[in-house]
Amino acid sequence: MQSIEAVAPPGSPEREILDQIDPHRLPHHVAVIMDGNGRWAQIRHLPRVEGHRAGIRAVQTTVEMVARLGIPWVTLYAFSTENWKRPRAEVATLMTLLRDYIDRELERFVANNLRLRTIGRLERLNAPVRRRIEAAVAATAGCTGTTVQIALSYSGRQELTDLVRHAVEAGARGLLRADEVDEAWIGAHLQTASSPDPDLLVRTSGEQRISNFLLWQIAYAEIYFTPVLWPDFSNLELLQAILEFQRRERRFGGLGHQSERAGDPDGGPRAPRA
Ligand code: FPP
Repeated sequence: MQSIEAVAPPGSPEREILDQIDPHRLPHHVAVIMDGNGRWAQIRHLPRVEGHRAGIRAVQTTVEMVARLGIPWVTLYAFSTENWKRPRAEVATLMTLLRDYIDRELERFVANNLRLRTIGRLERLNAPVRRRIEAAVAATAGCTGTTVQIALSYSGRQELTDLVRHAVEAGARGLLRADEVDEAWIGAHLQTASSPDPDLLVRTSGEQRISNFLLWQIAYAEIYFTPVLWPDFSNLELLQAILEFQRRERRFGGLGHQSERAGDPDGGPRAPRA
């Protein structure tokens, strides 16, 4: 992996943004809805598959930049439960591209100390692709750098539905009482249990939706929408998203710096809910 100096050399636009970023206030977990591959291809009169192929290159660039910056977690929405409704050929192509990406990148993941994880219903993927992914997850399990979490056959509602079913079943078997279910219990039983909640969610392509992604986990995430299509998402774009994240004041429903006196009714103007 190239150094940060190599990808953001002095005098470059990347360096200009990087110099404004406070390295002590980076997000801990960046989640990305990678959208716009199809439109990127369409503009160029190329088949959609070429958009996905270019999208993979943007994945590689983004993963490496996140790792270089020392951001501990990145979650990429690669394939939603709803994406199964796409034409069979497009689904098959996406799976092949994913498999090839894993095959090609596994060595680099290990060399760069990157850990691969997945969330979603992997059992719906075809067996050869699933086995490759599981092997890569196992091969990188001991890596201690950035965790790259790929959401595959994932939907936030599905994840929450599974959780409620699990709770009801555990309750019926006398293993769980209603008063044991609180936010911490839910967080600890989601598929993302071992990751912090994303503090920055990026969506490309100008669409301003959440599309069933990490519905519970993004409760307090800063959301950054950019018109850039995913294949064009560059290091510069990522740095701009992080700078914008740092410019926003995160209040978590409190009053932020407007009042030092928590709970004081005279402590300044009321904050919105979040
Ligand atoms: C959205 O673009 C993108 C997808 C449905 C797939 C994203 C997948 C990749 C970038 C490649 C695989 C990922 C990894 C992590 C290796 P779209 O097809 O919906 O674009 P459109 O809205 O312009 O049609």
